[in-house]
Amino acid sequence: MPHITLEKGFKEALEKLQDRGIFLGRGEGLLLAQGEAGTYPILILPRREGTLLRLDKGTHFLDLSQAHSIIHRLAQEIGGEAIQSTLDPQARPRPLPPSFATPRRWIQGGGLAGLLGPVERVEVEIGFGNGEFLERLVAPGKGVVGMEISNWAIKRALNRLQGKGPHVILKSPGGWAVKWLFPPRSMDALYILFPFPWPKRPSRRLIQPAFVRALAEKVKPGGRVVLATDHQDYARQMEECFSSSPHFHQDEPPGEIHTKYLRKWLAQGLSIYRMAFVNRRPPPERAHEMPSLQHPVEVEGIDPIRLMEGFQPWGFSTEEGFFKIERAYVNLQEGSLLFRTTLQDPDLALHHQFLLWKDGILDLMPTWGETVPPPLARAMEKMGQWLEKTG
Ligand SMILES: C[S@@+](CC[C@H](N)C(=O)[O-])C[C@H]1O[C@@H](n2cnc3c(N)ncnc32)[C@H](O)[C@@H]1O
Repeated sequence: MPHITLEKGFKEALEKLQDRGIFLGRGEGLLLAQGEAGTYPILILPRREGTLLRLDKGTHFLDLSQAHSIIHRLAQEIGGEAIQSTLDPQARPRPLPPSFATPRRWIQGGGLAGLLGPVERVEVEIGFGNGEFLERLVAPGKGVVGMEISNWAIKRALNRLQGKGPHVILKSPGGWAVKWLFPPRSMDALYILFPFPWPKRPSRRLIQPAFVRALAEKVKPGGRVVLATDHQDYARQMEECFSSSPHFHQDEPPGEIHTKYLRKWLAQGLSIYRMAFVNRRPPPERAHEMPSLQHPVEVEGIDPIRLMEGFQPWGFSTEEGFFKIERAYVNLQEGSLLFRTTLQDPDLALHHQFLLWKDGILDLMPTWGETVPPPLARAMEKMGQWLEKTG
């Protein structure tokens, strides 16, 4: 994470940033700085030798150069010599290409159909890595969606695919996006090539029975799911999950699949497992419940100072995950509260969110482009009740 340590007292640093709407937590400050890609949470922390400014971890940004220039500007405002720094002061924010989407940009852009325009087929890849297979998928009249969580991979794919047929590069965990962002029966083909096998924690694997159930709804009747792995146990799990689904039937394995990881594993002499499944009996179509951009929850009767004084991390188990408020911050000028929360949802994705309470309303403060899917909306309702009791 980009950071800088300044030879400046912590209290003095906070005072210098007073007019910037700083939030105060237990022994730390937090500033929500506005950038083109979203809101950048910058932590201000006391250090023996001075004050540290650091981009908050757990947040995802396409263009870290934006974070560099934001932190650099804040450091200049505070003043004092830099003792240690990872910042590139020359970093200049780049405009986001229109083919790049976060879940928020996906919904704002009208979802799959809005972003791709009229296309004959939709083909999707989860975890495209260096993007070479994704690039080969792109063709006139076909819409291609690539999903990744790695900023490096996303940058490379955006460069590779620039100016080519209709495509969207979506920054989101693939399992989550399939479930929440794709309409029913919208994919003609889905490729998942060499996904992480998580040998020590197989529960983190993407291909699980719940994911296959979601795919049965999202892949078109007759649509194909193509998989490849070098990991024998994951191959067995993939086969079991699809074979035990009443919707999918095994098809001829795919022919040549060229990816960086295929070359890597072949060079090591490993066996490659390739398989394909067709959605022959999809479940009845259901209405598509899209995440919302905001979810205002009315929460009255909070005393921010009292809440901060007694604040302890709080959370609860959800159906297949958990929700936790990790930290709380107060803005004394505004009388508002900011909560750093984590939601582990049933799609095994861990999401960090900032929730702002201001003027009796608790709502999402989008940072890297997140939305409010139904599990988060439910967690926010429950959190609201807890706040009313506690605050
Ligand atoms: C082993 S690499 C394979 C890359 C590429 N498919 C290939 O064969 O060269 C796995 C890729 O999946 C991405 N990935 C991991 N978890 C993901 C998730 N939940 N959603 C989307 N991509 C993910 C990683 O960032 C990484 O690029």
